[in-house]
Amino acid sequence: MSGLKPFIAANWKMNGNNALISEFAQQFDAEALSDIDVLVCPPSVYLERFSYQVAKHSSAIAVGAQNLNENDSGAFTGEISTAMLHEVNAKFVIVGHSERRSIYGETPELVAKKYNVALTNQITPILCTGESEQERDNEQTFNVIAKDIDAVIELCGIKSFEQGIIAYEPVWAIGTGKSATPEQAQEVHQFIRSHLAKYDDEVAAGVRILYGGSVNEKNAAELFKQNDINGALVGGASLVSEKFMAICQNAQSNK
Ligand code: PGA
Repeated sequence: MSGLKPFIAANWKMNGNNALISEFAQQFDAEALSDIDVLVCPPSVYLERFSYQVAKHSSAIAVGAQNLNENDSGAFTGEISTAMLHEVNAKFVIVGHSERRSIYGETPELVAKKYNVALTNQITPILCTGESEQERDNEQTFNVIAKDIDAVIELCGIKSFEQGIIAYEPVWAIGTGKSATPEQAQEVHQFIRSHLAKYDDEVAAGVRILYGGSVNEKNAAELFKQNDINGALVGGASLVSEKFMAICQNAQSNK
């Protein structure tokens, strides 16, 4: 970690329930984590409950959505807007998660629109990017990531990364138990920073880049020792409050 405030985010995906929210409310001690930013992204139907049961009682934990629609309102059945997120006190949104890209066909251009609508409506976007195993084998990792980032720069400008957050999530590491090694992750994080620096040094130095993909309470500390890793986006291990807490504590002690 390189002097930027660590950021640890939980992505519950289509998991969790009222009981898990109560577990977080009772057992997750966010106040003990005053040196880092903590975010939980439950499914959208639970945003309000999480917000009022957990986040409202603590300035140390924020709530965010896993997705949003790129339009402000209208006939988009099943979708949610930034205005709705504000009403449930959600201040962050994940955009371009690899599951949205691969299962729901979200393109870099669509993801850039989502990033843009979030930013212009004062919701902080977390832009996910990462290569598949095949792309890594074909030495396409940097190209894939540059393409995702450039789509955002083209639509929103480089300064949009003053407010946004980036998450590097290699697809082959997500939910597989096979995390990238700290060195593999650092190599890509450094690439992302140097790519942004081609446009603006200050923006590149200031953006927080999270690593995601099988982060757990055992491998977190080594990842957080890397210079360009400023936190984590945690899936499976965020579904148990104790494990998520342990990852947050690691971030706090490696800041
Ligand atoms: P995982 O998921 O921690 O379960 O690998 C991470 C993510 O997809 O954000």
